[in-house]
Amino acid sequence: MKISLLSGRSHPALAEAVGARLGIEPAECLLETFPDDELYFRSIDPLLGHDVFLIQPTSPPAAQHLLELLLMADGCRRAGASRITAVVPYFGYARQDRRTDAGQAVGARLVADLISTRCDRLITLDLHNPAIEGFFSIPVEHRSAEGLLAESLKALLSADHVLVAPDLGAVKRVQRIADRLHAPVAYVHKERFSGDEVRVRHISGQVRNRIPILIDDMISTGGTVLSALEALRTQGCRIPAKVVAVHALLVEEAASKLADPSIDEVIVTNSIRRPAKTPLSFRSVDIGGLLAQAIRDVHTGV
Ligand code: R5P
Repeated sequence: MKISLLSGRSHPALAEAVGARLGIEPAECLLETFPDDELYFRSIDPLLGHDVFLIQPTSPPAAQHLLELLLMADGCRRAGASRITAVVPYFGYARQDRRTDAGQAVGARLVADLISTRCDRLITLDLHNPAIEGFFSIPVEHRSAEGLLAESLKALLSADHVLVAPDLGAVKRVQRIADRLHAPVAYVHKERFSGDEVRVRHISGQVRNRIPILIDDMISTGGTVLSALEALRTQGCRIPAKVVAVHALLVEEAASKLADPSIDEVIVTNSIRRPAKTPLSFRSVDIGGLLAQAIRDVHTGV
């Protein structure tokens, strides 16, 4: 079966990078937004009988990128694609993975249902909660950038560093990276009051006189890492610290807030298109090879 790669508008540079690794150019298609805000997709290159991979992180604006992905899948199916795999390195709505209050929607389940109606498979990276995989009724190839991030920390790690989970949801991820690096860990107990309001209750682990490396799955407003960093500083941590995350959403003023003298480096992957103005302290780890390998494995049935 011939392989075809198509890119949505959420991260064309990543699609190019993945295509270069696979030795193929993204197939030609037309994506537009009409004056009334409706989205439009039409595939141009022939797809009849092809194994199609659609690259589209559902990063902000998540609803628009999701609908675009669904339209792409629908168009490719109608063009005769034999199999359609959504390649969604950042899966939006993942934080709505359970009900914490009566009447709430479970957004992650709904999005999984929608993708499952039009796609045959999903390739994704570092889901906020690995259990989300079970929300899909199609096979999910869930890969992780933890190895790449650990590798990027190896050269700069000293006996003075401590790897810090800025909330309890990050504990397992940080512990796995610490195991790879044989580094000590600490945990911050965070309380969230709203989308952008968090407070630290308690820190577990030895942090005094240590240099923190905060590791999370994503940075959205930056509130979580900044409040954790403030708490670590009051507990006697040394600064500047480093911040590591898989997905750099960087909404609102997050990028400039993280250009703080208390942070000397922010290491993130390119799972999401980088905002135009990111400070020099930002370093990007390329996931192009990781996604290309996942696509190869799915295509060849490994
Ligand atoms: C929360 O559970 C996530 O793992 C991140 O800690 C959080 O979403 C980061 O968001 P923000 O940067 O807005 O605090």
